[in-house]
Amino acid sequence: MIKRIQEIAQEAEQKIAEAKDNEELSKLQILYLAKKSELMSFMAKMKDMNQEERASFGEVMNSVKNKIQTKIDEKRKVLKDLAMEHRLKKEAMDITLPGENYERGAKHLFQKVVDEVSDIFIGMGYQIEEGPEVELDHFNFELLNVPKDHPARDMQDSFYIDETHLMRSQTSPVQARVMLSKNGVGPIKIISPGKTFRRDEDATHSHQFGQIEGLVVDENVRMSDLLGTLELFVKKMFGEKRKIRMRPSYFPFTEPSVEVDISCFECGGKGCSLCKHSGWIEILGAGMVHPNVLKMCGFDTKKYQGFAFGVGIERVAMLRYGIDDIRRFYTNDMRFNKQFHRE
Ligand code: PHE
Repeated sequence: MIKRIQEIAQEAEQKIAEAKDNEELSKLQILYLAKKSELMSFMAKMKDMNQEERASFGEVMNSVKNKIQTKIDEKRKVLKDLAMEHRLKKEAMDITLPGENYERGAKHLFQKVVDEVSDIFIGMGYQIEEGPEVELDHFNFELLNVPKDHPARDMQDSFYIDETHLMRSQTSPVQARVMLSKNGVGPIKIISPGKTFRRDEDATHSHQFGQIEGLVVDENVRMSDLLGTLELFVKKMFGEKRKIRMRPSYFPFTEPSVEVDISCFECGGKGCSLCKHSGWIEILGAGMVHPNVLKMCGFDTKKYQGFAFGVGIERVAMLRYGIDDIRRFYTNDMRFNKQFHRE
């Protein structure tokens, strides 16, 4: 019996050494150490032994059992180490390989100008508001004092989607949206940058372009507030020496309405090709919010007044950076785009 036990022990050791994975080891564990295994079945024989035999037999069995278990445990560890080594080898990287090159991106000039203008107005306590690019006729025109069939609609050849929806032709509908959201209670002090769309296309007009709308509604708002605000904006944007002037104009949603010019920054007002020898460059439209608009948008005109203005984003950029054609903003020519990367 002892001989057989030693044979089994030897065989077990060999098989454990040859085992290739944990699954095999588990099978061997059962084969040799489970209660019903051949080896363990010898335990039953102990009840027929006398005390002395039993003690020495028990010792042999225990040492064989422990040895097999230890071998299995050791092998498990070896297999685990091997697996780790294999994984490390597989996941190793060659740090001598050249890496991928990431080029640093930068803001498009359009966005850069939006940020610059926004910064100036945020500095004056304005908040930024946004409105939808697909707009209701109601907001784009009607609440801005341009009823259906009003000839002023011709000033903004528009892209209609259906009877009631269009690609907004100006950022001014945001004025109406913001006023309505305030339920007749001021103050309002916002700017709203965004895309606008008109059926236009030449060197200075694109079917898609950007505007920044400004709106202030409060008690005791005067035309001089508008003048002072725009003067500050122009000086920050185009230089401290710039002057502005206002010319009477017409917008259906402002009364009085003005067109604002800045003194030419190229020639300082003497006259050159940039300012078409007038010394002045047209820069934006503005005016006092029309009482009809205030009323339609829920404000009491006895208590509240307001001013509004609209600046063309590309127009500002073109003047500031000397760009000759508005289409350069959209054709994605990297030679153009990269010129403005320098901070
Ligand atoms: N929305 C006008 C336009 O696109 C500009 C403007 C805005 C004029 C606000 C006055 C007040 O032409």
